Amino acid sequence: MSILIDGKELAKITRQNLKIDCDDLKEQGIIPKLAVIMVGDNPASKVYVKNKSKACEEVGIEYEEFLLEENTTQEELINLIKELNKREDITGILLQSPIPAHLDINEAFRTISPEKDVDGFHPVNVGKLTLGQDTFVSCTPYGVIKMFEKYNIDLEGKNVVIIGRSNIVGKPLIQCCLNKNATVTVCHSRTKDIVEYTKKADIVIVAIGKAKFLKADMVKDGAVVIDVGINRGEDGKLCGDVDFENVCEKASYITPVPGGVGPMTIAMLMNNVIKAAKNK
Ligand code: GUN
Repeated sequence: MSILIDGKELAKITRQNLKIDCDDLKEQGIIPKLAVIMVGDNPASKVYVKNKSKACEEVGIEYEEFLLEENTTQEELINLIKELNKREDITGILLQSPIPAHLDINEAFRTISPEKDVDGFHPVNVGKLTLGQDTFVSCTPYGVIKMFEKYNIDLEGKNVVIIGRSNIVGKPLIQCCLNKNATVTVCHSRTKDIVEYTKKADIVIVAIGKAKFLKADMVKDGAVVIDVGINRGEDGKLCGDVDFENVCEKASYITPVPGGVGPMTIAMLMNNVIKAAKNK
């Protein structure tokens, strides 16, 4: 039986500590404020954004939401971002993805000022992470790293297998794990035999959005298993990319869904918003 990595509790403690930092900043006359842009009507995004606003309230971060219509033009989106870049009162900007397909998300992300890019998606911040420089680390990979730190899971010399190569999770995770001196392998949809890699891994991180993809026979005894997925299973219940009931019999540490990586992602966003305000 494995040890459960309690992301919910860890996120709560993180928010409490950040509230102290936030109060300090306010005493110095610096008011952290997050602007969130959402385009269109994605139901999952609405839930994420609501959770982000709740977390801001708890930490004491001011929050402003910009809801744009589905048929917003690229020019309108870019103009809004430029306006928010200029606004003195806004210290962090987040564009919730996905956005409608007719819009160019890469142009939008690179328009956000790197100093306000609390998601860490701007090419300058991605580059800094690659070079091992201080920057905004994107929130989910950062949350995963914090979990390792809090549970004293040392990555040095470990074989880490990441399943998934998204710009938001998989790719920045490579860098985060490398910075901790792990040996990193990335598997993805074109990998020929994923099991060949996962079976040898000391740590498996799954971020592909496929319900219960990682089965017990794919991991070695005592592996650490991190589940970044949030899916609806056939029973309609929330589940991750890991077949939790069975994998937890073999893993040494495992994250649950819900209550694992998800809350830590939002806590790390709060961390980045406070960091942006401090930098100011
Ligand atoms: N959509 C899913 N995850 C994220 C995230 O971490 N940041 C943003 N901006 N959009 C997302």
